Amino acid sequence: MKILMVCLGNICRSPMAEGIMRSKINKYKLDAEVDSAGFESFHTGDAPDFRAVRVMKQHGIDISRQQSRLFRKSDFDTFDLIYVMDSGNYQDVHSVAVSKDQMNKVDYILNAISPGSNTAVPDPYYGGDDGFERTYHLLDKATEKIAIELINGGQ
Ligand code: 4NP
Repeated sequence: MKILMVCLGNICRSPMAEGIMRSKINKYKLDAEVDSAGFESFHTGDAPDFRAVRVMKQHGIDISRQQSRLFRKSDFDTFDLIYVMDSGNYQDVHSVAVSKDQMNKVDYILNAISPGSNTAVPDPYYGGDDGFERTYHLLDKATEKIAIELINGGQ
């Protein structure tokens, strides 16, 4: 199972989602891989935002070596599940999709814990450290549920 986490800058939410999901993959020994990508090229090649790195480190997860990259059309072929953080990301992914099958792989990550609600993971980029802490907890809950579903679904 290949999972892609998507946000706008690929320096805050989706790198955190990638790091937390990887820790679940390791914890539950899942046969799965995870990556992340964004739609804004401003930070391409950069490490995640230092506040994201710091909060994740406080929770025992090192994301300092991850690098921002852009979403590419081939991600629809490479990945089985594509999780977006908000409606802007959903629209961005939708704008490059060429088939319904491709969009069937895409869902809002918080639908894992609030099915069908299409709730956004708020972007912590412009706020303080507490925003990153809140992001961590939302993503921790969602990725835990995704991991359990992968176990129950037999992958
Ligand atoms: P992210 O947050 O989408 O959670 O990585 C952002 C970080 C940077 C920018 C936008 C969103 N930016 O435009 O620089």
